[in-house]
Amino acid sequence: MEFKEVVNKRHSVRNFKSDEIPVTVLQDIVRTAQRSPSWENSQPWNVYIATGETLKKIKEIWVGKYKEKVKGSPDMPTGHRTNFSERSQQNMKDFMGAVAEYSGDPEIKHFLKMNEVLFNAPALVYLTLGKGHTGWPIYDLGGFGLALMLAAKDQGIDSIPAYEIVKFPAELRPLLSVPEDEEIIMGIALGYAAEDGINDFSSSRLPLEEVLTIKQ
Ligand SMILES: Cc1cc2nc3c(=O)[nH]c(=O)nc-3n(C[C@H](O)[C@H](O)[C@H](O)COP(=O)(O)O)c2cc1C
Repeated sequence: MEFKEVVNKRHSVRNFKSDEIPVTVLQDIVRTAQRSPSWENSQPWNVYIATGETLKKIKEIWVGKYKEKVKGSPDMPTGHRTNFSERSQQNMKDFMGAVAEYSGDPEIKHFLKMNEVLFNAPALVYLTLGKGHTGWPIYDLGGFGLALMLAAKDQGIDSIPAYEIVKFPAELRPLLSVPEDEEIIMGIALGYAAEDGINDFSSSRLPLEEVLTIKQ
């Protein structure tokens, strides 16, 4: 695919088919993401991918957590909505409103259910960083994550980056063999989009003038 086509076609998919992604394709996607820039080429990222039996266990744990109404306890604190700028808070509100309107359900039950079942994804990617970092590696990891999603899209594989995937790190750590000195920062679900209206939802973006300043 052309670069712009890859960028424009990538969007968050929230319901995947059960079709597996071949290991060689997963390796290729991560290899491409490794071309991402990082502070002094520090390459701070570690990548763990859950498929098969490991993924099955993770999904079972999530079902149990939801049953018991356990609150997420991520390695990277979520903070409060008011930690976001007012503009971002408005964007988040608009996004949730748009999802509700699109799905014709103010309670967005299907959207929430798909989160709970980890989007039925056949592969979950976990991105970790060594503990005690300055904050700058988060920038590197974000770039890495996007490169990974674009590399996936280029291979016809859909994705969603989601907090949902990393909200119970204590349970993930032993299953993925993540050492204690690494933080599980972010998760990305990969797979092939299922036939589901939720996958056709398109999120909006601010007008360019609101985010771009060019001084001459
Ligand atoms: C850091 C981060 C966390 C996210 N967490 C979730 C999540 O837990 N559940 C979810 O459904 N979507 C989640 N998303 C997806 C965003 O809602 C989505 O990227 C945004 O609305 C823009 O839409 P698009 O990805 O389709 O372009 C997350 C995205 C990012 C970057």
